[in-house]
Amino acid sequence: MKAHARGRLISVEGGEGAGKSSAMAAMRAAIVARGVELVQTREPGGTPVGEAIRQLLLDPAHGIVAESELLLMFAARAQLVREVIAPALQRGAWVLTDRFTDASFAYQGGGRGIDEAHIAELERWAAAIKPDLTLLLDVDVQQGHARLAGRGGDRDRIEREREDFFERVRAAYRRRAVAEPQRFRVIDASQAREAVTAAVLAVLDEALSRWT
Ligand code: TMP
Repeated sequence: MKAHARGRLISVEGGEGAGKSSAMAAMRAAIVARGVELVQTREPGGTPVGEAIRQLLLDPAHGIVAESELLLMFAARAQLVREVIAPALQRGAWVLTDRFTDASFAYQGGGRGIDEAHIAELERWAAAIKPDLTLLLDVDVQQGHARLAGRGGDRDRIEREREDFFERVRAAYRRRAVAEPQRFRVIDASQAREAVTAAVLAVLDEALSRWT
């Protein structure tokens, strides 16, 4: 394998119940099997400060206004980029993250209706790293929710939003994928889990052959 001056950043995005966890586990195994150092993380979270912010953000007991929600997402992200992602990429490691800045454009931009210009400004200032590859696991909102319901457990503050919120989130993700076709790969996550995993691994393989 050729050595890269810099590692690679791969993000996985999607709505609720899209199957990100299984996709990430399969990707992790495939990357590690190639002997690459892999750092896996998630957003919001991934650092002690970020995980504390995550708890605050997802606790249904809090009423959080859209602006605070966006700023807290970026507070966690600024910490993650500086503490974890940038150092890993600099030493040539690969980073696999469960969500990144696209989620803020989809949830706070699409879902909450915050002007994209504010989000773009925060991105430039606080977290100016773009993934090399973003997988969007795209699934119908009702189907995603049915999967969530099947899993049981309490819904977090954001999962409690109404269906139209998630329709706007999905539409915003899809718009971003259309706008940046070189970076995004859209996976039909309505398929059975094995088919989704196979599609995810095929995308990863294609990216790996481009990069190595
Ligand atoms: P998760 O359930 O995929 O771990 O993500 C936590 C929740 O946070 C999920 O509902 C999506 C939401 N989120 C945002 O609203 N904006 C963001 O920037 C990120 C990273 C996540």
